[in-house]
Amino acid sequence: LYCNRKIFFIMKILFLGDVVGSSGCDSLRKNLPEIIKNKKIDFVVLNGENAAEQGVGITEKICNEMFSCGVDVITTGNHVWDQKETLHHIEKENRLIRPENLIKPSPGRGFKVFDAKNGLKVGVLNLMGNVFMKKCDDVFVEAENFLKKNTLKDDYDFLVVDFHGEITSEKMAIGHFFDGKATLVIGTHTHVPTNDARVLENGTAYQTDAGMCGNYNSVIGMDKLNSLKKFFKNKEAKKHFPANGEASLCGVIVDANIETGLANEIENFIHGGDLKNS
Ligand code: FE2
Repeated sequence: LYCNRKIFFIMKILFLGDVVGSSGCDSLRKNLPEIIKNKKIDFVVLNGENAAEQGVGITEKICNEMFSCGVDVITTGNHVWDQKETLHHIEKENRLIRPENLIKPSPGRGFKVFDAKNGLKVGVLNLMGNVFMKKCDDVFVEAENFLKKNTLKDDYDFLVVDFHGEITSEKMAIGHFFDGKATLVIGTHTHVPTNDARVLENGTAYQTDAGMCGNYNSVIGMDKLNSLKKFFKNKEAKKHFPANGEASLCGVIVDANIETGLANEIENFIHGGDLKNS
């Protein structure tokens, strides 16, 4: 009996939030292949901009490890260039993208259409907020230009938008702007998962922030005692470095309709470590 997912008209997309340091990478290596299998995931996108050992940027080696444990596309954000090798690596690695609205010209690209294992086409767009972030082009203008040129079902079967930003209002506004035109709009960067996963009015799955894949016994993934020293302006404070306890993998799983490219359902996903999935 031949039955693939196309017959059931369902596509399952897993999005994982910012991977932080070795703790995040170790947990992905250990758990991701099994999660993909158990949850019947067809496509995986994760934000990898804090994955390097220092907690900022990403390396070629880490990208390859992530791809080999089942990740399809890696998005980034304000720390994209913190490991200098990425300036070159991003030009030859199509599966690694950076915010589309970085100041032009910037190496790499912020949008690409990928082939999922089941043959369907998934567009992935990476954007970055303007408030409390590094200077970048106006994200709303960029989003509007993007939608003038690209259409769900014509240019791709599904569209995943990673909005890397600090403030909740920008993220929610972009969610509504893409409602009915994207499969998923998901926020990243704050490293704290929000409890507002829902399918918006016109069928786009949304969550304000995915949370991080890192150790939560920390201050947003960084060593908590050192972070406190920094806030207290203690002279002994060092540069931030990741907390290395067990990570919680955080993100969302979207159940998408193959006919429309829109979401049937979105589920908040938390696996392992200090956070409990209630
Ligand atoms: Fe960030």
